[in-house]
Amino acid sequence: MIAEEFAQLKAERGLSFEIVRNGSRGLAWLEPMIEVETPTGRIAYGPIESGEAGGLLDAGILSGAGHAKRIGAVEDQPFFKRQTRMTFKRCGVIDPLSLADYEAHGGLNGLKRAIGIGAEAIIAEITDSGLRGRGGAGFPTGIKWKTVFEAKGARKYIVANADEGDSGTFADRMIMEGDPFCLIEGMAIAGVATGATKGYIYLRSEYPIAIDVMREAIRRAKDAGVLGDSVLGSSHAFDIEVRVGAGAYVCGEETSLLDSLEGKRGQVRFKPPLPALQGLFGMPTVINNVISLASTPEIVAEGAESYKTLGMGRSRGTIPIQLGGNVKHGGLFEAPFGMTLGEIVEEIGGGTASGRPVRAVQVGGPLGAYFPVSLFDTPFDYEAFAAKDGLIGHAGIVVFDDTVDMMHQARFAFEFCAIESCGKCTPCRVGAVRGFETMEKIIDGEKPADNLALVEDLCNTMKFGSLCALGGFTPYPVMSAIRHFPEDFHGEPMKVA
Ligand code: NAI
Ligand code: SF4
Repeated sequence: MIAEEFAQLKAERGLSFEIVRNGSRGLAWLEPMIEVETPTGRIAYGPIESGEAGGLLDAGILSGAGHAKRIGAVEDQPFFKRQTRMTFKRCGVIDPLSLADYEAHGGLNGLKRAIGIGAEAIIAEITDSGLRGRGGAGFPTGIKWKTVFEAKGARKYIVANADEGDSGTFADRMIMEGDPFCLIEGMAIAGVATGATKGYIYLRSEYPIAIDVMREAIRRAKDAGVLGDSVLGSSHAFDIEVRVGAGAYVCGEETSLLDSLEGKRGQVRFKPPLPALQGLFGMPTVINNVISLASTPEIVAEGAESYKTLGMGRSRGTIPIQLGGNVKHGGLFEAPFGMTLGEIVEEIGGGTASGRPVRAVQVGGPLGAYFPVSLFDTPFDYEAFAAKDGLIGHAGIVVFDDTVDMMHQARFAFEFCAIESCGKCTPCRVGAVRGFETMEKIIDGEKPADNLALVEDLCNTMKFGSLCALGGFTPYPVMSAIRHFPEDFHGEPMKVA
C-alpha cells in the first residue's frame, strides 16, 4: 500500500527515484518502515501510515531531511547495534530478488567453496560449527547431513521446513522475503553435501509474499545457473520447488510434512525409520528448518571457527530471537546464545507495550513453557532451558503483562492441542479434549484440587505417551502455568513433581 502510494506520487510529480521492496530489518515496532538511500547513508522513517507518503516527500525525505517519523540510520538503533547479524546480515539491506546484489554482499561464496571442497569436507565444517536445528529440537545439523550422505537411495531430497507455525515467530518469513537466495544457497549446499538433487520448500499458505518472492528467486537462480543440471557450472545437479501447505499446525512436524508433500493428509509417521533414511517418497531426506539451512552458506564460506566461537555450552553460533506479544520493542534480534531471558525481555524488548509489569513470557511457541520473572536469569541456551523444564523451540518469545490469567492460558494449551491434533495417537487425541474439559471445571471452581491432580496426571501421560511433540509438549505450558503461578489456580499447590 505505502509502496504503491510512493509509486503513484513518483509518476504524478515526475520524480526520479527507485522503489525496492527490501523486506524487514526486524524492528517490528517501527514497521512499516522506509529507508532512503542518501549520499551519507540510509535514513529510515517509520512507522509509516497510509496517506503519509505525500507529506514525507514534501518534507524532503529524498535527501534524508527531518520529519516527525525520521529514525535515522537503522544501524544506530540500540536494538540493532547490540545484534550480531550473521544469518540475517543481508535482510532488509539488499534487493531480495537481485542476484547481483546478493553476490555483492557475499552471496554464493559458501556454495562455491562447497563445490570446491566436496561432500565430506562440507559435512565436517557444518558438524564442527556446532550448528543445531533451529526448528526447535536442536539436533546437530552435521550429523543429520552425514546420515543422509551415507544412506543408500536412488534419489535423495532436501526439504526446507517453512511451515513456521509457532506463535510469535517470523524468522523464516523474514529470511524468505528479505534474502531468498540465502535459503536457496543453503539448500544447494545441503544437496552437494548429501548427493541430493531435488529440494522442496514446504511453505505455509499464510505467507503469500514469501511464496511469491521464493518462487521468483528460484526462477532467477535457474536462469543464472545457480540451480539446474550444472550448479554453478559444476557436475552437481540441484533443483528446487515451492509447495504450499494448507494451514495445519501439525504439518510443521517433519513426518506429517512429508506426508503432506506426498499429497496425502498430513499425519505423523512412526519413527523409526528416520526421514534421513526413509523420508520423502521413501528416500533419504534432509529435512531442516529454513534458518538451519540459511545459516550454512555463512558457515561454509567463512569456516566453522568463526561460527562456533559464538554462543555458550553446546549452543553454538547465533540465534534469531523473535520478540512478540505485549512488548514495547518487538522484532527479530539475532545474537549469540547466552543472553539471559531478563536481558532480552526487559533491556532489548523494553518491557511491555502496555507499560504494566511483565508477569510471564512463553518461550518456544504454543507448546513452550511459561517463565515467570523469577526465572529471568535463565540464559538463552538449549540445555539451560531444558533444565528449567522449558524449551527454546524456534526462539519465539511472547510477553504477557500482569493482567494475564494463567488458568485460562493452561486451558488454551489443551484447546490448541485438541484443535490441531492429527488424531493418530490416543494420549493427544483424547487427552487434549479431556484436559480442556477438566480445565473448564477448575475454572468453574469445581473441586479444583482433585481436578488439578487429574490434569497433572494427564500431562504425564501425554508427555511420555504421545507420538509427536504436539501432544508430548502440550504439558509444558500447562504444567509451567500451574507450577509458577499457583495463585491463578485457586491457590492450589502442584502435587506431581
Ligand atoms: P526430534 O528430536 O524427534 O528430531 C529432531 C530432528 O533430528 C528430526 O529431524 C529427526 O529426524 C532428526 N534426527 C533424530 N535422530 C537422528 C539421527 N540419529 N540421525 C539423523 N537425524 C536424526 O524432534 P522433532 O519432533 O522433529 O521436533 C520437535 C521440535 O519441534 C520441538 O522442540 C518444538 O520446539 C519444535 N516445533 C517447532 C515449530 C515451528 O514452528 N518451527 C512448531 C512446533 C514444534
Ligand atoms: Fe497426532 Fe497428537 Fe499423536 Fe502427534 S501427538 S501423532 S499430533 S495425535
